[in-house]
Amino acid sequence: MLKNDLILKAARGEKVERTPVWIMRQAGRILPEYRAVRASVKGFKEMVKSPELVCEVTLQPVDILGVDAAIIFSDILVIPEAMGLDYEMIEAKGPYFPKTIQNEGDLSQLSTDNMAEKLSYVTDAIKMTKSALNDRVPLIGFAGAPWTIMAYMVEGSGSKTFSKAKKMLYSQPLLSHQLIDKITISTIHYLKAQIEAGADIVQVFDSWAGVLSHDLYATFALPAIQKICNAITEVPVIIFAKDAHYMLPDFANTKASVIGMDWTMDIKTARQIYGNNKTLQGNADPCLLYADKDTIRRETIKMLEAFGPQRHIANLGHGVYPDISADNVKCYIDTIKEFNFKN
Ligand code: CP3
Repeated sequence: MLKNDLILKAARGEKVERTPVWIMRQAGRILPEYRAVRASVKGFKEMVKSPELVCEVTLQPVDILGVDAAIIFSDILVIPEAMGLDYEMIEAKGPYFPKTIQNEGDLSQLSTDNMAEKLSYVTDAIKMTKSALNDRVPLIGFAGAPWTIMAYMVEGSGSKTFSKAKKMLYSQPLLSHQLIDKITISTIHYLKAQIEAGADIVQVFDSWAGVLSHDLYATFALPAIQKICNAITEVPVIIFAKDAHYMLPDFANTKASVIGMDWTMDIKTARQIYGNNKTLQGNADPCLLYADKDTIRRETIKMLEAFGPQRHIANLGHGVYPDISADNVKCYIDTIKEFNFKN
């Protein structure tokens, strides 16, 4: 039995005594304790593949920041790698794929077999972390959404426009569907393995939803999200599609329990769309945490009041930036945990 299951209760739409909070990228460079562990290994990937180190840094934000959930320390790009497309994490630049997917030949090289086995370093880390957490808070598992994973596999790196990946959607729609289908199958196996290992809730990150039109998202990305939500019946699913205001009404027709909101999305509009059927997660601008503490407290309370006391999991509208002070992140978290709604 979890001692603090506020996030799970909120996700299921059950009554909570206060708004729970976790922060995207809470385990990472904002914490000096993380940077110390990171400095002890050669590369990011080495760290992701060491269950002991993953366990250590996953617990750090629970101990240091007091968040209401841990999120397993990993990356969305472990899926392309397990499918056979290797990547490098280049210091201060981000991911780079030496080989990308461009045609049917490339696609045929990708495997959807034995995902759980190939990603056993993640599930081992989940088991170890669950045991170390000792039921203090839930553990969040995660994966990238198939469109976002396809975007990296075709583009080969980060991009402002993801124009190479979008070019494939327009010029090779059949290949695009086949690629997204393969990623979707792998992702479902992977999420199920995470849940079996102990993940209490899972988040699907569609970080590059914002470069698509409604039409492209509805044609290529949404069916994959729907398949994932239909397949994951064991635990609540959080869908976070960054910059995808245009998809909020469509997400009402998915089985997701929680809809993640970035800071540009309007809280009232989202409540009107979903009523009491979905929990909302988010959504302060990470840049708010560069402000002085009075401003952080004032704006955080404004956000809490806009969401109201139920069906809200507080978070930022995207991952916390690495140069934000951990002290200011703690101020945001404490403000949420200490806030009492008047009635
Ligand atoms: O605390 C947590 O949220 C768990 C850890 C986590 C990481 N990546 C660790 C990480 C999570 C949930 C992710 C997901 C992820 N990875 C996403 C989706 C979320 C989002 O930000 O939209 C995406 C798009 C990626 C791909 C990725 N990984 C990029 C573009 C980069 C480089 C940019 C950067 O932040 O440096 C990474 C590297 C990465 N993933 C780091 C961390 C802590 C930094 C590398 C390091 O510490 O050496």
